[in-house]
Amino acid sequence: MTIRCDEFIKDYMRDRLRKLLLPIYKPSRSKLLLPYWRYLLMRPAIFELWFRGRLAWFWGTRGGLQSLSEQPQTFVEQVKTYNQSKIFEFFRIRTEKFMVLLRCIDGIPADAKILCIGPRNEAEMLLLSLYGFPLRNVTGVDLFSYSPAIQCMDMHELKFPDGTFDIVYTAWTLKYSFDLPRACAEIVRVLKPGGVVVTGFSHTSTLTEEVGSPLTKGLDELLQHFSPHVEWVYWKEVAPTGVDGVFEVSTIFRVQKSPPGPSSDRRVMVERGPVQAES
Ligand SMILES: C[S@@+](CC[C@H](N)C(=O)[O-])C[C@H]1O[C@@H](n2cnc3c(N)ncnc32)[C@H](O)[C@@H]1O
Repeated sequence: MTIRCDEFIKDYMRDRLRKLLLPIYKPSRSKLLLPYWRYLLMRPAIFELWFRGRLAWFWGTRGGLQSLSEQPQTFVEQVKTYNQSKIFEFFRIRTEKFMVLLRCIDGIPADAKILCIGPRNEAEMLLLSLYGFPLRNVTGVDLFSYSPAIQCMDMHELKFPDGTFDIVYTAWTLKYSFDLPRACAEIVRVLKPGGVVVTGFSHTSTLTEEVGSPLTKGLDELLQHFSPHVEWVYWKEVAPTGVDGVFEVSTIFRVQKSPPGPSSDRRVMVERGPVQAES
């Protein structure tokens, strides 16, 4: 067997270079880092092109918008009509925060099966895929859909077997529920034991808009609806919006499905309250 001299030198140099650089870059490696191409797709202009390109493609090839057949509750019909009119809109910042947080939580598998309730369009789900949760593992459900990734389904009657998902992700949707205890029970039912709920909503202590569940007592009221299944709260935030008395509130928590232990077992890992305005 003959080894060519130039190949030998090349291998030797590569090995030397690796040994030289490894101690420098190894401490800087992080599981939070994303591949370069994902950062590129996240750039607003490129992301918009991707999201709207897919919307136009599916709209054209699938014959427009499908929607859940007429619902007995007039309220659901109103919600559907209102949100259909906003099909092209996407509020990136409020939902993207959850994705950054999800990447920080240990124990969430990279192949986690995610149910996204109320994405309105694909943008939220595409963004989730850029944060490392492949689109094939993300199932969307909404009252209407133009995409094969979003099924027409009511959050009060999810058509999935018990224990299907690792994460239920529902951003700015639960306030549209006309029966919150039922919607929360459905979320717990479709989650696997130890599954994670990710949710947020705009909170005011006074009722200012037509919603199904005003949640005027904020996050505590919402968590009460998930009681006694809230096992571990990873994140809880009440963020002022700049408008007097209006807050963006959000939480991420782990669910226990077996009979709960004493309430002292429930722990809050991160809790952030309203930030005081700087004088
Ligand atoms: C305000 S949008 C939220 C969009 C996105 N998640 C965000 O954070 O910007 C609420 C979505 O929930 C959907 N929705 C409302 N009631 C629902 C129900 N009963 N079942 C399923 N989806 C529902 C609406 O159609 C709408 O697309």
